Parts: sequence; structure tokens; C-alpha cells
Amino acid sequence: MVILNNRVIITAALPYANSDLHIGHIASTYLPADILYRYMKLKGLETIHICASDDFGTPILIAAEKQGKTPEEYVDYWNRRFREDLHSLGIDYDLFDRTSSRENISFVQAFFTRLYRKGYIYVSDVDQFYCEYDKKFLPDRYVKGKCPYCGAEDQYSDGCEVCGRVLQPGQILSPKCSICGREPIKKSTKHYFFKLSAFSESLKEWLTQNKNLQQDAVKYVLNWIEDGLQDWDITRDISWGVPIPLEEAKGKVLYGWFDNHLCYITTALKYAGKLDEGGKEFWNSSTIYHFIGKDIVYHHYLFLPAMRIGHGDFKLPDFIPVRGHLLLEGKKISKSRNWVITIREFLEKYPADYLRYYLARVVSSDQTDCNFDWVDFREKINNELVANIGNFVYRSLSFAKKSSGQIVPRADKVGKEEEELEKSFRKAFASYTEAMDSLNFDRALKYILEFSDSCNQYFQKKEPWKNPSDSSVTIYFSLNSVKRISILLYPFLPFTSSRIWAQLGLKGSAVEHGISEVDRMISPGQKVGEPEILFSKV
Ligand code: MF3
Ligand code: ZN
Repeated sequence: MVILNNRVIITAALPYANSDLHIGHIASTYLPADILYRYMKLKGLETIHICASDDFGTPILIAAEKQGKTPEEYVDYWNRRFREDLHSLGIDYDLFDRTSSRENISFVQAFFTRLYRKGYIYVSDVDQFYCEYDKKFLPDRYVKGKCPYCGAEDQYSDGCEVCGRVLQPGQILSPKCSICGREPIKKSTKHYFFKLSAFSESLKEWLTQNKNLQQDAVKYVLNWIEDGLQDWDITRDISWGVPIPLEEAKGKVLYGWFDNHLCYITTALKYAGKLDEGGKEFWNSSTIYHFIGKDIVYHHYLFLPAMRIGHGDFKLPDFIPVRGHLLLEGKKISKSRNWVITIREFLEKYPADYLRYYLARVVSSDQTDCNFDWVDFREKINNELVANIGNFVYRSLSFAKKSSGQIVPRADKVGKEEEELEKSFRKAFASYTEAMDSLNFDRALKYILEFSDSCNQYFQKKEPWKNPSDSSVTIYFSLNSVKRISILLYPFLPFTSSRIWAQLGLKGSAVEHGISEVDRMISPGQKVGEPEILFSKV
């Protein structure tokens, strides 16, 4: 993998401001993005982590109406709740903004105007569902009916949850107004369309030339292009959205998928203080990662790049890592069927690092679905965190406490076992960096485990409690290995990493020192802190 620039911008897909984040969101998007963010910082790169609440759209307006709140109040609640939940998992952002921010609205409107002037947006008359009783156009979720592809009943008019197809306005069969239940009529109205079809060739070129893109996604996206791209209706006749900045478009707003991904750019520029000037250079001299789940590949591999190509100022993403769905005990997570674990629910029972550990361990670096299984969870926590890593850290520190009064001893005679241990670290470290650089976080985590395992074996073999004459060297090497483990764990288990760091009596934190700190040995004579059990059994 090539790192193109020194500055890195990492975004995670923006959560819709209408429901709690759950373990599935964390697995596919927020955790992988955070692991990379922490790793890049550990490497000393200037890195910006960006997210926002996705505030606009029909479902959110409907939900706000149901609760008797203004949409602003409604999304505000979710925005705060997202930040709290993510923070409690150690997932923090340089800026967590909102798509409904003043800055994003004006950025999106300017973006629209440019595309419109360049001829990439056109107007066309369309028949839309309209409820004569409610006196409203009924986009997307305002209409329910039967899927024209698979016949599933009770589907929203913008897509079928049973067969997964996206539906165009008007396609749904036996439509019903979701407010009053009556059958809507069709009424002609002017809608704006984004000419996605005009970008087939340039998208194809980008998809085939950018080797950093995830190849499993590229493969089927290219097939979609072969099948022919449809222009996108980017208009909604509702009040909650970015107003279309044209006199003749009064009362119309932009479709949420027009404005939401632009918020990646707005938020990064806002953070950098470059919204007015220098934003283009700033963005284009960064390496850009957009982390997403596999349900929004279409939007990120086609729609987003096409809009950026059409506009011309902002470069396309370098990486769009896509992860599969997380199943819960083998079944699809579903809020409506209450088959879900929210972040809050999880954290009532277990520490944040347990979730981070388990998810990082089971989520692979492609789009294969993975599974949250409680038995497997218990086994991985007990056998790997508790019995392997936790055990080694604790026995090293507590032995140092007992036999050398918490003072790091001198390593006088380095023997064969120490050389072996060093070798196993070198090997693990090289594999770890290779895996992290290529976004294979699950593999990288396994290399830490392997190293920790060889540390346990080393300690066992040396039996320092039986060999007091040789115990200094064992303690010295063990403590340094503990330090190395703390550094490598930082992207995965930030809470644990800093606890280990403190127990070693080291100043600051692993990330302040950077990854090269693995090569600096703790000085003999230094005092280590109090050993404390890191993990308890599930
Ligand atoms: N809110 C969308 C979803 O949950 C994701 C938006 S990501 C962005 O599917 F790129 F559009 F911002
Ligand atoms: Zn269907």
C-alpha cells in the first residue's frame, strides 16, 4: 500500500439521526476507522478523524413529527447521544459535526450551483405520489406498498428491505400514504436530476486505476456500470433538507444522499479553518479514507465520486474500506424485531475494550459477514485477553514488584532465550505493521497475541522465581515486552494500553512517544507502578 501524503483524513459513514448506534455499526465502520486513526497517530502522521450526524431526510422528519418535536430538536438529541456513545467506546473525533450545520448547507448549495451550471443537473417533470387528504407530496417513506420485484408487502417506496433493491419514486405497487393510510394519487411536479449516467466512463477509469480501492467492491460496482447507470432524482418535496438554491425551486429540498457525503469535506475544512480559503489545497494534499458498511457501496463508489468529478475541485477518496455486516448469534440485526445490542446495553455489562477486542478480532478486512456470538465472545476474552495478554502483563509486573522492589533491574547476561524473544518480537512487529498498513486489523491483532504468547513461554521457561541469580535479565526483558505490547495495543484497546503504560510507571502515553518507542528500552533504575489485574473473566 502507498501512503500518498503526510496528512490523513479519516471519515466514518454518518449515522442517521434517528436511532441508537449498535454493535453492528461499530463493527463495520466506527471501530475500523478509529483503529486506523489511532495507528496513524502512533506513526506520527497528522491525522484528522471526522464524523457527523446525518440529519436530513424523510424518515427523520416523520419520526420528529411523531414525537411532536421540531426536526432541529430531534436531530440535536441524536447528535449528542452519538457523541456520548462513541466517546464511551474510546471513539473520538477531531470534529463530530452535523449535516444540518450552517456551513454544510452553504457548502452543499454552492456545490449544487456549480454542478447545475456545468449542466450535470437537469429538471424534469415527474409524477409523484400525493396525498389529497394530507395535502402533501409523499416521498420515500411517506408511502408504503408492495415491492414490484419480490412481492414483499409493507415496504417503503424507496427500497425493499426483503430483496434489498432500491426503488425509484413511483415504482412501488398498491401504494398507501403512511400518515393516513389512504391511497395517494399521482401528481406532476418538477424534479432535479443528477446526471450520473454521464460519468460512466470516468468512474470506470477511476475504479480500475485506483488500486487502493477494495477490489471485492470494485468488481461488482463495475458490473453496475455495465448494466447502465440511472440518473438520480435529487429532489424532495418536503421542508426538512437543504433548500435547492434556485428561485423556481421554492419549497423543494435536496435528497439526503446529495448533501450527507459532502459533509465529509465541510467538516474537514471546518476543522482546519479552511472553509473560506485554501480548502481545496488542504483536501487535495491529504490522503482520504472513507470507512463504510457494505450497504452503502453504491453511494460511495459511484454517486460520491461522480459528484466530485463533476464539480472538479475536490479529489476523490484514496481508500473506501468496506466491511461486511455483523450478525448477532447468526441472525441479521434488526431494531424492529429487537434483535440488537446497543452500545449502551453492552457497556452496562462489560468494559469498552472487551467490545473493541472482540469486534476487531472477528471483523475481516473484506465484505464477508461476521458474527457476534456470546460463547465465542466469552472464549476469546477469557483465553486471549485474560489468559494470554492480561496474564503476562500481570505476572511480569508483580514479579518485578516482589523481587526487585519495583525497580527496573539491569540486564547483565543476555542469553539464548532473550535472543529468541527478541526475534519473535521482530517477526511479530514486521507482520503487525504490514497488516495495519494494509488495513488487515484482525490479522494485526493476532500478531500481538502471538507475541504475547511467546512472552508467556519465555517467562515460563526462565522460571525467574527459581533462579534468583538470573532473574534480573528476565524481569528486564519482560517489562520491556509489556511496554511493547502496550504500544501495539494502542489502536485496538486504548483504555488498556494506557493502563499498562501507567502500571509501568512511564510518563505520558504510548501515542505521544510514537511507534518507534518499541525500540527504546526502559532504563534500569526506573521505578515501575503498581501492578493491577487488567481483565477479569467473563
Ligand atoms: N446515513 C447513511 C446511512 O446510515 C450514511 C451516510 S454516509 C455519507 O446509511 F457519506 F453519506 F455521509
Ligand atoms: Zn422486494
